[in-house]
Amino acid sequence: MKFFVDTAEIEPIRELAATGLLDGVTTNPSLIAKSGRDFMEVTREICGIVDGPVSAEVVALDHATMMKEAEVLRKIADNVCIKVPLTVDGLKTCKALTGEGTMVNVTLCFSANQALLAAKAGASFISPFVGRHDDNGFDGMDLIEDIRLIYDNYNFATEILVASVRHTTHVLQAAKIGADVMTAPPKVIHDLFKHVLTDKGIEGFLADWAKTGQSIL
Ligand code: E4P
Repeated sequence: MKFFVDTAEIEPIRELAATGLLDGVTTNPSLIAKSGRDFMEVTREICGIVDGPVSAEVVALDHATMMKEAEVLRKIADNVCIKVPLTVDGLKTCKALTGEGTMVNVTLCFSANQALLAAKAGASFISPFVGRHDDNGFDGMDLIEDIRLIYDNYNFATEILVASVRHTTHVLQAAKIGADVMTAPPKVIHDLFKHVLTDKGIEGFLADWAKTGQSIL
């Protein structure tokens, strides 16, 4: 499963990229606003840090303006992935852009039928928002299971990008279902490394090692 980080903050992206385990980045208008940075400038900087897809979202609601915005965004770098909302105009834009060989991430997906439409529109990624789905009394992971089943039934190449991930259990469940990608805030990715028994084990080994009086270097 590929790991994307969901942020527009440069330092956490650099830190995770240095692990060699980061496959891409997702941003959205709210994350750009939170960063306080210029959209073009911060997106260009992120694209220089990671080789994988960096999602940059259009803000227009109509197809013609979405295409114009995408034209500006895709010039930023080769690894920009244009993010469009799951609307009629968003999917028209998706179809046009992917037809020209541009990567597209269809965002704000909350139903398996929406995901089916995105795949038919040739989306590179579909982003079902599991956390927001859970918040509204649904089970986000049921949605991922349904999309996996449908995409496998028809051999769609669209990658399932599990978004709005809130905790490490979402990551585990997404991996068990066979989602292609997950995007999570930096903290959730850092939490994946942690286990109390790992810390305890290191402590014990180092205490015993100190008793030997030896050193490796
Ligand atoms: C994904 O591309 C979105 O930016 C993101 O996962 C939304 O997450 P949220 O529901 O925590 O805002």
